[in-house]
Amino acid sequence: MLDSVTVRAPGKVNLALGVGPLRADGYHGLVTVFQAVSIFDDLVATPLPFGSGTQLVITGEGAGVIPLGPDNLAARAVRALGAFGASPDVAIAIHKSIPLAGGMAGGSADAAAALVAVDALFELDLTRDELADVAATLGSDVPFVLHGGTAVGTNRGDQLTPALVRGSFHWVFAIADAGLSTPAVYAKCDQLRAGIEVADPEVPQALMAALIAGDPVALGRELRNDLQPAALALRPKLQRVLDIGDDFAVLGSVISGSGPTCAFLVRDGDEALDLAVALTSAGLCRTVKRATGPVSGAHIIDHRSAA
Ligand code: C5P
Repeated sequence: MLDSVTVRAPGKVNLALGVGPLRADGYHGLVTVFQAVSIFDDLVATPLPFGSGTQLVITGEGAGVIPLGPDNLAARAVRALGAFGASPDVAIAIHKSIPLAGGMAGGSADAAAALVAVDALFELDLTRDELADVAATLGSDVPFVLHGGTAVGTNRGDQLTPALVRGSFHWVFAIADAGLSTPAVYAKCDQLRAGIEVADPEVPQALMAALIAGDPVALGRELRNDLQPAALALRPKLQRVLDIGDDFAVLGSVISGSGPTCAFLVRDGDEALDLAVALTSAGLCRTVKRATGPVSGAHIIDHRSAA
């Protein structure tokens, strides 16, 4: 039996997000290309005495705002593993760097980290496929955060095919003062498309070729997000944030997922720093983070055994 397990889980950016029509189950069929980036949440799981229940503590991004009750995605992940023999008596301490409700899978990262940590803590020995199946019940992005790297997501975004990628890419993320609700952004997208026939999205071949070639210039041209008009309609000032990237002639910019985080693809670390300074001094966002991608999915970074 382990005394504690520490798991690190990455945030994500959607390099492309193609959104199909609203389905009968309330979701939209997607073709998205996810990339895991080096902004991480760290989660420590420790067993508690019998009957203690799941006790959650959150520090960092969103602390004091994120609900700590049974609806928290990490708590739901612990419960979901009960079916495989995990005890609910576990302390979960999360240090968050991924913004809350930012379109970067912050909640999903905590769920994925909790799955990996609790699996190890109680020696459940679930396979990655079994964990991915549980992950998909917790949220559409949870399987990708478990997987990491760069991958094409279909169905709700939960069915993954790894993408071939050469090299590493430099990103700058402008994080807004307040998050956007994912269901509200999808609903706005449907409203903006009312009366328009929406085709099923397709795998963006030029973007996949840019990834295989490791060509950041071509990748920058191919970034796109069908949710962007909806996020901009709900938060018009995001356009001014994206315009700062244009002034810098960045390789590309896109709103990440359902937003409001704006992602900028830049040439190197120096350009990332210059853009970060410009975004910060413009005063249009709460904070700016630099990152690279792709990085690994949720993985154990430390574990301690009982003496
Ligand atoms: O799966 P998840 O809980 O993250 O989804 C949150 C909400 O986002 C869904 O209830 C739905 O409104 C919307 N969504 C969608 N189509 C997807 C993924 C999410 O409409 N493929």
